[in-house]
Amino acid sequence: MPTDRRTILVTSALPYANGSIHLGHMLEYIQTDIWVRYQKQSGNQCVYVCADDAHGTAIMLRAQTLGISPEELIADVKAEHEADFNGFHIGFDHYSSTHTDANRHYSELIYSRVRDAGGIAVRTISQLFDPEKELFLADRYVKGICPKCGADDQYGDNCEACGATYQASELKNPKSTLSGATPVLKDSEHLFFELGQHTDFLKEWTRSGRLQPEVANKLAEWIEGGLKSWDISRDAPYFGFEVPDHPGTYFYVWLDAPIGYMGAFKEWCDANNFDFDSVWGPNSDAEVYHFIGKDIVNFHCLFWPAMLNQADFRTPTGVNVHGFVTVDGRKMSKSRGTFIKARTYLDHLDPEYLRYYFATKLSARVEDIDLSLEDFVQKVNSDLVGKLVNIASRTAGFIGKKFDGQLASELANPELIEAIRAKGPEIRDSFEKREFSRATREIMALADDVNAWIADVAPWQLAKNEDTLAQVQPICTTAINAFRLLTLYLQPVMPTLAAKVQAFLNVDSLGYETLNDTLLNHQIESFTPLLTRIEMKDVEAMIQPDVTEVKESAKTEATSNIEPIAPECTIDDFTKVDLRVATIIAAKEVEGADKLLQLTLDLGGETRQVFSGIKAAYQAEDLVGRQTVMIANLAPRKMKFGVSEGMVLAAGPGGSEIYLLEPDQGAQAGQRIR
Ligand code: MSP
Ligand code: ZN
Repeated sequence: MPTDRRTILVTSALPYANGSIHLGHMLEYIQTDIWVRYQKQSGNQCVYVCADDAHGTAIMLRAQTLGISPEELIADVKAEHEADFNGFHIGFDHYSSTHTDANRHYSELIYSRVRDAGGIAVRTISQLFDPEKELFLADRYVKGICPKCGADDQYGDNCEACGATYQASELKNPKSTLSGATPVLKDSEHLFFELGQHTDFLKEWTRSGRLQPEVANKLAEWIEGGLKSWDISRDAPYFGFEVPDHPGTYFYVWLDAPIGYMGAFKEWCDANNFDFDSVWGPNSDAEVYHFIGKDIVNFHCLFWPAMLNQADFRTPTGVNVHGFVTVDGRKMSKSRGTFIKARTYLDHLDPEYLRYYFATKLSARVEDIDLSLEDFVQKVNSDLVGKLVNIASRTAGFIGKKFDGQLASELANPELIEAIRAKGPEIRDSFEKREFSRATREIMALADDVNAWIADVAPWQLAKNEDTLAQVQPICTTAINAFRLLTLYLQPVMPTLAAKVQAFLNVDSLGYETLNDTLLNHQIESFTPLLTRIEMKDVEAMIQPDVTEVKESAKTEATSNIEPIAPECTIDDFTKVDLRVATIIAAKEVEGADKLLQLTLDLGGETRQVFSGIKAAYQAEDLVGRQTVMIANLAPRKMKFGVSEGMVLAAGPGGSEIYLLEPDQGAQAGQRIR
């Protein structure tokens, strides 16, 4: 058990200021918040900061579309984000923005120190430029014909059809997705962070016990493959910080985003009279932890420590990476109604149910977390209502009615209370190591023991008889003390429930300093229901596809889709294409291909191998067993990885937004589609 009071700075990734918080994001903030609350409960000095990630082209363009300034846009979104986080009881000590003076200060400072240490190169690069919008186009704002396979409508970095990667300037017939104009090549000076200089440092840093083993292994692969320079600047117009010694050039959003952790912390320091350098200085003995999702590991475990090190700041003690949320085994989807916004959830359900459910699923590994809606309802009702709160609801009434709210002067079962206390070190170790699923399992096992004992001694029987009534008070006192300890253990996960229990028990704190307390001869308040069961209908109401949202996105897709409907074809043209129902019997990732999955399809006897650019949208294992639709008579195509014998059909713009077609129930593999 820790004896020294630790000083710990904790951050969650800064959410982009151009969209709403959804339940995928919430996993991260809930995970971090539980850990932070555990540290505070243990008496450590723990400061939790976060901020909106407010810079970049997307935010600039969105503000333009809305006809407001970027400053107005980010202020509105920040207010919305903060209300959502509040709703889920995320207890930030400070929530800021990357668009602040403090962040500008540290961004300039780190940049100039890195530059003075020889870490920045200036190079002229040639990029596609939209002559109508008058801006340089990031790859996702250019579409054209794949230079390798000729597929139309491909983004500027890689082809969804054949998996090729290329420069945006290699696309044939390129078009700006912003204006439809044909882009031109234009030169400009860019600043590069010379990551390769830090190879030896990073080899060592990534293996110094600060990272999960699977993350360190992934990084070792990247480091072995050679570390490329990182383009840290963007040309005007851009919403961000102008580079001090390069007018007209701005820091790339990902340069000042992690520095935003420092900017937010500096503001907290100023408001609390705290020394910033005692945490971020090179000789700090404070701890710093970043909680992030698996998609942003390179920024936090390569660029960030390398820059901090070169700029003479300390590096993080740990970077804690989590997986992605799926709903009922699938990627969250707007059309299925499972792209659940934080606000939508809060309109229907108690936030602590989700906090508890995520806790039961979270470990220290980088695994995806499935929010299975039936399991969610079942687990919350059985664990929280059926096990935990049940301990109090079966016993508190007797204390109130028969003993004037007064607990007994002794316990009926002191061994039971000792046994619960004895689990303290294990449970604390689980919280400390982010093994929340283990912690909740340990707590619920104790709740089972307590309930079994209560059922055994049956105070409700003893209360019926004058001769045995006196036994009821020490029995219920034991149950109430057990309930206090279990609530204390669960406090980081369920802070509101814990606060209600604290009021009911008439105690000042549920911190670990009270672990050895026993409530005897103590007055408690009357018991009121603490939690209600979840009804499946509330969950169903929550996942109604958001009609306005779906219409909105249909509208924006329609207006941003610059490609007109293809020229008319005849029914004969159509029947040339043989579409079949196919069952996916195997799916796997393709070594060396970032975008592709290799699918084995059953056509009712015949099997086909198809390479499909859907990896960003689907986990291979989730596809096995599903039906889809394929073009069965497409000429086989030889690709780098093998022969593709057909094509599966999907909708969506690409990337992670690909929606595989699926026939209605009852369709048989091999059936023709007409
Ligand atoms: N702005 C960057 C982070 C900058 S940190 C210096 C960003 N923002 S984000 O809004 O896209 O994501 C914020 C966090 O939420 C990231 O850690 C991301 O991994 C996490 N998640 C976003 N969608 C998620 C799921 N579906 N599931 C779990 N976490 C998810 O990235
Ligand atoms: Zn291609």
